[in-house]
This record gives sequence, C-alpha cells and structure tokens, in this order.
Amino acid sequence: MRIIKARDYNDMSKKAANMIAAQILLKPNSVLGLATGSTPIMTYKYLIKLFEDETISFSDVKTINLDEYIGLNKENANSYYFFMCNNFFNFINIKPENVHIPDGTAEDLEKVCSDYETMIQENNGIDLQILGIGNNGHIGFNEPDLKFEAVTHCINLDEETIKANSRFFENEEEVPKKAITMGVKTIMNARKIILLANGSGKAETIFKSLYGKIDPALPASILQLHPDVTFILDKEAAYLL
Ligand code: F6R
Repeated sequence: MRIIKARDYNDMSKKAANMIAAQILLKPNSVLGLATGSTPIMTYKYLIKLFEDETISFSDVKTINLDEYIGLNKENANSYYFFMCNNFFNFINIKPENVHIPDGTAEDLEKVCSDYETMIQENNGIDLQILGIGNNGHIGFNEPDLKFEAVTHCINLDEETIKANSRFFENEEEVPKKAITMGVKTIMNARKIILLANGSGKAETIFKSLYGKIDPALPASILQLHPDVTFILDKEAAYLL
C-alpha cells in the first residue's frame, strides 16, 4: 500500500492523472475503472489536457464505471452517465462502445448486474481502478454493512450518502434511494487501485480505512489487503496520518 501526500486538491489531481496517463502509455488498450463525484473532476480535467497535448490517446482505452443511480436515465443531469460525458468522455477520443456504465433504468436490474460482471470478465478485468471514498467509508456504493458484498448488485443508499449527495440535487427528496454498484470483490480484482481523497471531512475515514480493523462496517478498509493500492490524499485528508 502506498500513500502519496499531495499539497492540495490540484496537486492530488495532477498526480492521479499522471499515474493514469502512465498506465495508458504503457498499455494503450487499458481497461480503466472510473468513479464519479466531486473528487475526480480535476483529475479528468488533467487527463483531457494530456489528451489535447497529444500525450495520450483513449482510442483503444475501455472504461467501466463503478456505479449508477437506479431510475435516472442518461439524459438526466444527475445520472452518472451524464456526469461522465459532461466531465470527461465528451472531450476525449474514447469510442462510445468502449464506455460501460450500468443502466439504472432497465426493467431487469438483476440481469444488468450479472451482465456487468460478465462484461468485466470478457474484458479481462480492470487494469486500473479509480476510487473516491464516502464519508462513511463506502467505495463505489458499497455502503457499511455486516458483510462485504462481492459482485455487482443493487443497493439501498445510506441516509448519510443521500444527504452528502443531495448537494448535486435541488433537494434531498430528489436523490435516488437506490443504486447499482460494482461489488467489493469486483473492485478488489482490479490489478491496480488508486483511491483519491481531499478535504478534512474525509480525514478520519481515511485514517480508519488505512489503519483500522478490516470491517464491512467501513468498506474501504478492505483495501488494506489489496496488493497494489495507492492512496493519493491532499494535506487535509491526510492530516491524521
Ligand atoms: C462515485 C462513487 C462514490 C464516490 C464517493 C465520494 O462513483 O463511487 O464512492 O467516490 O461518494 O464522493 P465525492 O467525491 O463526491 O466526495
């Protein structure tokens, strides 16, 4: 496990983008696992810049997102599909057929979950997974639980997550209560993982995830067992370390 302490959010994002760019340069047909939320926005901006500079190309890259709200279609400004297009995909040369995000509007959501796992396996797994972390220690939308949920599944979002994510919506009522997420095993099967965190609000969760008991009540704690995981933290998120 590596811990990189960045000066600030900008530096954290630049370091993350550089590591992702190195992955793409060394393996142009990399499979990237991607996250949404506030944390990776600047990382995506730096990757777009590296694409515009012609340092990297996404022409053979495949992406697989961690999660999606249930009930929001692609055109909904709060769907993760919309987020990814708006913050990243619309500005790079990725092929639409190489983008994968669970469909939270499908009738048969169980099938969406099992098809997602099959798709990941057919792509030979994820080379590099980018993660954010919830205030409650969730990764993807694997919320604190009594056991680690293995594969892609539907979940009920925690009250805390609904509250935290309501900042993107008009009000808390509008936040979907359910989502589809990769499971903990799906995430742990990625060959490399980078977890990003910034801000003092994440400091205690980061400390416990790195040094606390491995416990499904704090899903990110399982990352202690991953053979190639890097935490890139700004000063504030790292202040308890
Ligand atoms: C998003 C995701 C979540 C977020 C986490 C942190 O795809 O899987 O685990 O990474 O909720 O969100 P932000 O970055 O908004 O603090």
